Amino acid sequence: MQIIVRDNPQQVAEVAAALIRAQVLRKPETVLGLATGSTPVPLYDALVRLHSAGEADMSRITTYNLDEYVGLAPDHDQSYHYFMWEKLFYGIGVDPGQVHLPSGIAEDLDAECLRYEESIQAAGGIDLQVLGIGLNGHIGFNEPGDTFSNRTCVAELTESTIQANRRFFDSEDQVPRRALTMGIRTIFQSREILLIACGAAKAGIIAQTVHGPIISQVPASVLQLHPNARLLLDKEAAAEL
Ligand code: PGA
Repeated sequence: MQIIVRDNPQQVAEVAAALIRAQVLRKPETVLGLATGSTPVPLYDALVRLHSAGEADMSRITTYNLDEYVGLAPDHDQSYHYFMWEKLFYGIGVDPGQVHLPSGIAEDLDAECLRYEESIQAAGGIDLQVLGIGLNGHIGFNEPGDTFSNRTCVAELTESTIQANRRFFDSEDQVPRRALTMGIRTIFQSREILLIACGAAKAGIIAQTVHGPIISQVPASVLQLHPNARLLLDKEAAAEL
């Protein structure tokens, strides 16, 4: 794993945006894997600024998001569909036909997972996957103990993830307990991976991800085996390395 450390989240976002810009310059039809959560928000702001300044043409990219909550419709303000349109897609003028998220309201969730997985393969696979990391080491919603060989699947969220997500909902019982997520295997097959983490709360899990054993209890530790994975961290998240 290559590790890049910057002073603060803003500098981290600028490096991430530059890496994505370079990728899209090399390959305008890039298939980009995207993440939600707080961490990538400054990155998405930076991409919108680059687009507005005419410095990055993302009109030909295709995107696949990591995950979506089960039970939330795309127009629900806590759905990841809604998040992505608000934070990025409107701002970069992307064609709605080229952005993809799994549907959390599909009648047959297993069939939806299969459809999503096949769609990624049909697009030629993911060139560059952006990841955040949960406090428990999850990537996407692949929680501790989930098998590394999973493809897109329905995941049960752990108590730690439910508590971490609680801040976005009015009450705890509104926090979804399940999500559709790309599996570890889906993520691992991306040609490049860029995991971003900021803040002191992530320092412990980042140290385990980089220096710990490669075990399903720390899902992100599998990235030690990836030939082209980068960790982009602020100083605080890198403090225990
Ligand atoms: P965060 O979430 O960016 O809001 O910390 C990351 C994650 O849970 O994957």
